[in-house]
Amino acid sequence: MSRVEFRTGQGGLPKLVLQTAASTAEIYLHGASVTHYQKHGEPPLLFLSSQSRFQSDGPIRGGIPVIFPWFGKPADKPLQHGLVRTRSWQLAEIETRAGDQLRARLTLPSAPELPAAIRLEYTVTISAELTVELAVMNESQQPFTFENCLHTYFAVGDVRQASVHGLRGIDYLDSLAARQRRTEASDAIRFSGEVDRIYLNAPPVTEIRDPGLRRTIRVETQNARSAVVWNPWIAKSKAMPDFGDDEYLRMVCVESGNVAENQLTLPAGESCRLQVAISSAPLA
Ligand code: BG6
Repeated sequence: MSRVEFRTGQGGLPKLVLQTAASTAEIYLHGASVTHYQKHGEPPLLFLSSQSRFQSDGPIRGGIPVIFPWFGKPADKPLQHGLVRTRSWQLAEIETRAGDQLRARLTLPSAPELPAAIRLEYTVTISAELTVELAVMNESQQPFTFENCLHTYFAVGDVRQASVHGLRGIDYLDSLAARQRRTEASDAIRFSGEVDRIYLNAPPVTEIRDPGLRRTIRVETQNARSAVVWNPWIAKSKAMPDFGDDEYLRMVCVESGNVAENQLTLPAGESCRLQVAISSAPLA
C-alpha cells in the first residue's frame, strides 16, 4: 500500500511524495522541508503559504523548516534561523515499517559554512501520524554548542478561534519585547495580535484546539526543552514578501527545539535526537 516517488515540485525543486494507507506527505530536498502532511479524510495538518518562493537561496514558507545551528538572528550570524533550511539535502534511505509506516531518512552533505565533523540526519515517518526527528552527531574532538528547532506551521481554520494548551506556568521570552522574561498565566493561549514567544523548559506535550477545522492537534516531543509559539498577525504578514496578507488567519506555529538558554552542548563523539510526533483527533 505504501508508495514513494520523486517528482518535480514548485520552482522546479525535487520533492518526495510519500503515501501510506492512512496519509500522504511531501518532502522537498531543499531544506529537508516537509511541506505537506494529510491524513485521509482530514484537511492538511501543515500550513504552506501560497506565496512561498521555492527558490534555492531562500527557505520555504510553511511546512516544517529545520532550524540549525542557531535560532533567530544573533548579531554575529549572517542569516536568520541558521543554515540548513536553505541547503539541498539528500535522500539516504526509504524504509517500509510494520504498522503501515513509511520512513524517509535524509542527510545533509557537508557544506563549508557548517562546522566540520558535525553530521546531520533528518528522519520523517508517516502513518496515521507524522514524526520528524533531527539527529546531530558530533564527530569532532571538541564539544559543540548549538540551537535547533523544528519550525512547524500548523494549519488552522481561523486562528482567532484557535488556542494552544499545555504551557501554563511556563516561563517565556517575549520576542516582541526584547526577549523579556514572563510567565504564562493562561491555560489557553489565544490570538488577537502578534505573538512571538520562546517558552523555556517546556513540557513534552502541547495541544492546538481548532474549532474551525474541528480538530485537536497534539504535539509530543522528545529532547525539546523549548517551544516557540508564533503568529505574525496583520502588519508582519503584510511585511513578509513570501506570505499572503490574510494567511495569518490560517496558521499558527508551535515550534519544538532547544533555543536561547536551552541551547545544547554536545560532547565530542556524542549525538542527540530532537523528535516531534504530531497527531490529530476530532475536537472533543
Ligand atoms: C519564528 C520567530 O520562529 O520564526 C519569529 O520566533 C520569526 O520571530 C519567524 O519572525 C519567521 O522567521 P523567518 O526567518 O522564517 O521569516
